[in-house]
Amino acid sequence: MEKEKPEEVNSSLKDRSLETMKKKFKISKPKGKLGVLIPGIGGAVSTTFIAGIELYKKGNGKLFGSLSQMGTIRIGKRTEKKSPLIKDLVDLAKVENLEFFGWDVYSDDCYKATKKAGVLDGSLVEEVKSELEMIKPGKAVFNKKFAENLNGKNIKKEKNYFKLANELINEIKTFKKEKNIDRLVMIWCGSTEIFLKKSSVHETIKSFEDGLKKNSKFISPSMIYAYAAIKCGAAYANGAPNLSVDIPALEKLSKNNKVPIAGKDFKTGQTLMKTILAPGIKSRLLGLNGWFSTNILGNRDGEVLDNPKNFKTKEESKLSVLEHIFQPEINKELYGDYYHKVRINYYPPRGDQKEAWDNIDIFGWLGYEMQIKVNFLCRDSILAAPIVLDLIIFMDLAQRAGMDGIQEWMSFYFKSPMVGSKLYPEHDVFIQSMKLKNTLRFLAGEKNIDHLGLDYYYE
Ligand SMILES: NC(=O)c1ccc[n+]([C@@H]2O[C@H](COP(=O)([O-])OP(=O)(O)OC[C@H]3O[C@@H](n4cnc5c(N)ncnc54)[C@H](O)[C@@H]3O)[C@@H](O)[C@H]2O)c1
Repeated sequence: MEKEKPEEVNSSLKDRSLETMKKKFKISKPKGKLGVLIPGIGGAVSTTFIAGIELYKKGNGKLFGSLSQMGTIRIGKRTEKKSPLIKDLVDLAKVENLEFFGWDVYSDDCYKATKKAGVLDGSLVEEVKSELEMIKPGKAVFNKKFAENLNGKNIKKEKNYFKLANELINEIKTFKKEKNIDRLVMIWCGSTEIFLKKSSVHETIKSFEDGLKKNSKFISPSMIYAYAAIKCGAAYANGAPNLSVDIPALEKLSKNNKVPIAGKDFKTGQTLMKTILAPGIKSRLLGLNGWFSTNILGNRDGEVLDNPKNFKTKEESKLSVLEHIFQPEINKELYGDYYHKVRINYYPPRGDQKEAWDNIDIFGWLGYEMQIKVNFLCRDSILAAPIVLDLIIFMDLAQRAGMDGIQEWMSFYFKSPMVGSKLYPEHDVFIQSMKLKNTLRFLAGEKNIDHLGLDYYYE
């Protein structure tokens, strides 16, 4: 009898373990309403997102940039020519069924906050005035030490963190009951908090809960929201770079409570460009001497980041991407000694319309030097809004599929993707996109696509 070839054994083993996993992830239907909980609901990203959804519901807004709404996905062999919309392949919650609730340090309703953010044209905002006016922020769990440049007064009075978490839990439960909500997702769109390192209080659920009771200085407001969300069975995604759900205690709690979590820091303007360009430079083995990135922006986010303690959190997040893409430790000659600098400058006249410059010093054949210049005149919140929508829709899918804990397949949307403790994060946007699409194929019971393609040419 002919012996099985090793690669066939491997692939049949792989198929078998995929089959077992498929049985594990049975997806329930997205019936009823999906409650969306947003800390920072009065910010530029949140209001641009919510106004866009309300405009869409009225037939006057296109959800450009959203994979869950506009993306297609290839199924089967290229010769089959099957590329359905993602939302036709997997059962996703409908945009019409989203219901919003949130908190902010400022008391403006969503209409006033959208006008203040100044991202969208006034006439467009007027079209959804009544819908936006109905969304009023709850009082925030806030600690000025974590964002000194904010001066809002819409803040809960309670001082004890554990009691504050319970206040949030009660509000979430009331929202769920009153609006007849079926499932919940929380997405942190609050300001970037100051830089924090993991400490012993973050280690276990017990140490964290003790820390809440004793108002530990290592527990930030965003961690209190994340704790409340997980306790209520709400999926949690972190759009900012600060330490939040990415601590062992909350990771463990998310597994115990069967809740998906993801983060962190929406990958929008300059970093998106970086993770598009860097994999290309590396794939052609062009060397790198330096990458200088600078930004000017004038929104509230820029004002918060003007404080060096808050900027440090953002800087860490922005700096990490190149190292993981170029892997200097295994590509010493090409990437062993590059200089990487990131700057953000608060410049009020520019508002939300950020301008980002990149100067990239590369070298090629025989060491000859070249330069690439990128000048991206972007709109921060316009780039972030579709990410917020996709994260809500896909985190809900994960929840319905019984996928708890860290959702690495959401890396596509983040500057600093959360991954398992033994893994390094994948920053290459093309690998991230493939990972996301293969996860969707897997959940839909379709074969993954590896782009080998030799089967088109050889028997
Ligand atoms: N493209 C982007 O816009 C982008 C990209 C990546 C990350 N982010 C991050 O997303 C977040 C939101 O960005 P933005 O431009 O909307 O900022 P923003 O300053 O306009 O909005 C943040 C809001 O959060 C509120 N807030 C702060 N702390 C809070 C708390 N403890 N509880 C409740 N509300 C709180 C603030 O009052 C503010 O209204 C920021 O952390 C930002 O760094 C944005």
